Amino acid sequence: METVAGIEALRGRVAAWRAGGERIGFVPTMGNLHAGHLSLVDRARARADRVVVSVFVNPLQFGPGEDYETYPRTLEQDRAVLAEHRVDLLFAPPVEAMFPRGREETTFVEVPGLGAQLCGAFRPGFFRGVATVVARLFNLVQPDLAVFGEKDYQQLVLVRRMVQDLAFPVEILGAPTVREPDGLAMSSRNAYLTPEERRQAPLLYRTLCDLARELETGRSDYASLERAAMSRLEAGGFRPEYVAIRRAEDLAAPGPETGSLRVLAAAWLGRARLIDNLPVER
Ligand code: PAJ
Repeated sequence: METVAGIEALRGRVAAWRAGGERIGFVPTMGNLHAGHLSLVDRARARADRVVVSVFVNPLQFGPGEDYETYPRTLEQDRAVLAEHRVDLLFAPPVEAMFPRGREETTFVEVPGLGAQLCGAFRPGFFRGVATVVARLFNLVQPDLAVFGEKDYQQLVLVRRMVQDLAFPVEILGAPTVREPDGLAMSSRNAYLTPEERRQAPLLYRTLCDLARELETGRSDYASLERAAMSRLEAGGFRPEYVAIRRAEDLAAPGPETGSLRVLAAAWLGRARLIDNLPVER
């Protein structure tokens, strides 16, 4: 596996593969890789001739007072596990290569509506930062396909929307959430939990499981189900931002129609902001 930091080197490698008719798979990450990230890499590996992974802690998607400075950076360790998973190229650019104009002057991509609700309502500018960096990475790597985790379900829906709206010739694949044995979704930010909080953390998953089960029995009193789930999280020591029952396809508020639903939540536990979501089988 080769590691490149520069844009010209990246473009050169990928152009040579493309000229040889090879199919390029891409997995964007912020590093500090765990089994969740690696499941995306394996999926790309199974579907493409060449796999490119990016590790870039994107300053555009962190708000003031968020954890940009302290976000775990473990490039040597990441490089080793990516090589084991038969990645062809690791792209690990410095901030100046990605955003030479700085955060205020960079052209941005905004997905209206979708980007302003749920996590977007609590983290202003977050999805603009995600869409902007993903668009730039797609233009740099020019992959045939890219894999995103369902762990960040709103991000997955938003990237699909951006790809449609801006006609990126990239196939977007979703991959299921990888969990710890007790149900907690794997996340780099789980490291912020104290041992006591770590024991409480699976309540987020259990609350969503029970909510999904209620919906599967046919309940449609969405607002009261959401409120009850919020109270349960509060009683368990969380500070929930939202629990939401939404249409799976576009995260719109569900109407009387019986399409697929998704339950989603974000909640603080100590200094960790945890998110999770589950499908509802109706
Ligand atoms: P990051 O949080 O590093 O996640 C990179 C990818 O791994 C995302 O697609 C995310 O959904 C997926 N992922 C994380 N935890 C997972 C888990 N437990 N199971 C399955 N997939 C999981 O998401 C980002 O980075 C950034 O926003 C990025 C897209 C790289 C843009 O900066």
